Amino acid sequence: MVIKGNFLYTPAIDKTVIQKNAYLAIRNGRVERFYKALPEEYAKEKVIDYGDAVIIPAFNDLHIHAPQLINRGVGFDKELLPWLETYTFPIEANYADSAFADRAYKIFLNQMWAAGTMRFSAFATIHKAAAWHLMELTEQSGLSACIGKVNMDRNAPDYLCEETEQSLEETEELILKCQKEFKNVSYILTPRFVPSTTEKMMAGLGRLGEKYDLPVQSHLSENRSEIAWVKELHPNSKTYTDVYDAHGLLRKNKTIMAHSIYLSGEEKNLLQEKNIMLAHCAQSNINLSSGVMPLRKNLAQGLRCCIASDVAASHTAAMNRHITASIGLSKINWLQHPEETALQLTEALYLATKQSGSFFGKVGSFEPGYDFDALVIETDEMGGMLARTPFEKLEQYIYAGDDRNILARYRRGKYIEKPFAL
Ligand code: GUN
Ligand code: FE
Repeated sequence: MVIKGNFLYTPAIDKTVIQKNAYLAIRNGRVERFYKALPEEYAKEKVIDYGDAVIIPAFNDLHIHAPQLINRGVGFDKELLPWLETYTFPIEANYADSAFADRAYKIFLNQMWAAGTMRFSAFATIHKAAAWHLMELTEQSGLSACIGKVNMDRNAPDYLCEETEQSLEETEELILKCQKEFKNVSYILTPRFVPSTTEKMMAGLGRLGEKYDLPVQSHLSENRSEIAWVKELHPNSKTYTDVYDAHGLLRKNKTIMAHSIYLSGEEKNLLQEKNIMLAHCAQSNINLSSGVMPLRKNLAQGLRCCIASDVAASHTAAMNRHITASIGLSKINWLQHPEETALQLTEALYLATKQSGSFFGKVGSFEPGYDFDALVIETDEMGGMLARTPFEKLEQYIYAGDDRNILARYRRGKYIEKPFAL
């Protein structure tokens, strides 16, 4: 397959490549190379011409709560812990009901598709059947994901509090079924966060991580009351990060820690050594008044950071909104900390495409060998009367665009249709 158009991608955080009116040869779903003029050998190939549209790598969202999507926008006058108790735990309780889960997860996957997010890492709920159903629906959708059943066995309302052994057994059952049945969905261990998981649970999950060499996702250092609570629960641990580490839950190159706002130098060094992905959730951090991650400093230190949504503490799955939230928050932070310069648009694009894509392999760029995961974007509202460069089109889409501006979506070279009719 050959695709023609204006391609824009970020092979590095400080490098943007724009290929205008170029042909991109795609073989087995992967990027082969660009051509200015199409050579003879491609004469028989199908060429899809997207004209003046701009083609960018699709988004990868490494932190999202699938069951919460239907609650987006609700309850943001509260901070994290009361928000969880008042709005989030009650909505997650509904996933004991299979009809509810079926409809809500189809809505979720349609929204991911609309957002141009072709790959994600999601929390489900504690419910085994609903978590399995989310995996099945995701496999059907053509998108790709890491998905985990949430584990929680303390400090949760009765209706969401699990028995430790049973939770671990159910988790192992899902791991094995998932390995057997899916091509595009894989299991990720998902302890909710330290306050929700006993040491026995964390240690059990750490052992499953070792046994099956699995990735892990959780929350770290999001809110000051949460951090104080972790200290109270684990007085003998040096830090919040150490609690995860002591239980084998900082799996090298394979762990996503959302938020990671209030980290000490020691914690950062440990996270860097283990190459942990820190999911920066700016819109969520604003909505729940959680705080400002020092993203510029973290990047300068070489910490692995990406931009993620954290729906439903954020109010949309749309990754362009999370890019603008990250930039906006970094500008406010810059005013207060002049040495922490604001995030540039192309830097933010990198963090939401290639950086987050690295969790899935060669994903998030148009360099040779990368999976062709792409969005075709058109923002022209003047019928061609106002000339716009591809970069200006990208800027307008990121700031002012939505799913109506995405003309086509591809994952690993395959055109992806809206997954579900509801
Ligand atoms: N910490 C523990 N659970 C959650 C959750 O569902 N959302 C967010 N933002 N933080 C959490
Ligand atoms: Fe979260």
